[in-house]
Amino acid sequence: MTELTTQTTASLGAIAAATTLDMLEEQRLAALGKKGWISLALKTLGQMSADERKDAAPAIQAARAEVAAALDARKAELEGAALAEQLARETLDLTLPAPFAAQGSIHPVSQVMDELAEIFADLGFSVATGPEIEDDWHNFTALNMDETHPARAMHDTFYFPDKTGEGREVLLRTHTSPVQIRAMQEHGAPIRIIAPGRVYRSDSDATHTPMFHQIEGLVIDKDIHLGHLKWTLETFLKAFFEREDIVLRLRPSYFPFTEPSVEIDVGYAMEGGRRIVGGSGDEPGHAWMEVLGSGMVNRRVIAAAGLDPDQWQGFAFGTGVDRLAQLKYGMDDLRAFFDGDVRWLRHYGFSAYDQPTLSAGVGARA
Ligand code: DAH
Repeated sequence: MTELTTQTTASLGAIAAATTLDMLEEQRLAALGKKGWISLALKTLGQMSADERKDAAPAIQAARAEVAAALDARKAELEGAALAEQLARETLDLTLPAPFAAQGSIHPVSQVMDELAEIFADLGFSVATGPEIEDDWHNFTALNMDETHPARAMHDTFYFPDKTGEGREVLLRTHTSPVQIRAMQEHGAPIRIIAPGRVYRSDSDATHTPMFHQIEGLVIDKDIHLGHLKWTLETFLKAFFEREDIVLRLRPSYFPFTEPSVEIDVGYAMEGGRRIVGGSGDEPGHAWMEVLGSGMVNRRVIAAAGLDPDQWQGFAFGTGVDRLAQLKYGMDDLRAFFDGDVRWLRHYGFSAYDQPTLSAGVGARA
């Protein structure tokens, strides 16, 4: 019996000294495992006489119960300590900065629209909007394009079906110019607005998509002339391309809603396979490229919007936002703008923190 007592004391001591669950498991196996001393002691009962067994069996069972209880108690202690240690280690400090980089980016079209709004806000323009589902009158007739006007055919319009099946009354706007009419009707004159937004034409190839973006500008006041138009567009293009050497060429043209009409070209040079805007198109190595349509607002348009053209006049301009983005940031295929390919968006997208401002630069790159 003294051997049993010695072994029990040794086991209890080792269990108390175990500092890890692995060490504790070793002690469990050494005592209660198949070849553990308690299991072996229980096996000896079979060879004993009935008398011997009457004393030995309760003693061995008592030792087994004592060791098992010590193992359970120590296990609970070690597990409790491990949990406390893990909780201390894995606390979440919500005052720390977010551990993951922000996902997502600002699309170049949104970025350029923000840049344009910032530049024109500095010149006293506010941002106007109009519906993308437009009626024939605002999109065409009020802009001096009546039913028979040939320019209508050039717009490849998406019409909505109507009751007659003819479907010529409601359409997806083909340009942002109808916002000119809506803005004059709503706010009267004087007025200075830009109107960026989506427009739609049934057209699709590397340089045309069925939906694209335009920006419209309109100034109506007294004594406005072409000089104001030229200064405004020159100031805008210099701010947008962030260089002083932008040279404009005004070319006579035709739009139904302006009279006279001018197309605006800028000089550029090819650098690394890209068009870089700057300099006169007549310089060696340079050429001209059209960037804007514009003109003095046609009297008939001013009258259609409910203003007196003898009292009010002004200028308007329009251009493609996607194309401005391509020129400034160098993407060559327009279709990629609308594919939603995350690699393209990561490469050409902007940080949401990178708000264009006149003080920090309207095109600062993240
Ligand atoms: N609406 C024209 C287009 O989509 C662009 C345009 C040209 C707008 C001349 C204007 C303008 O305001 O004056 O092609």
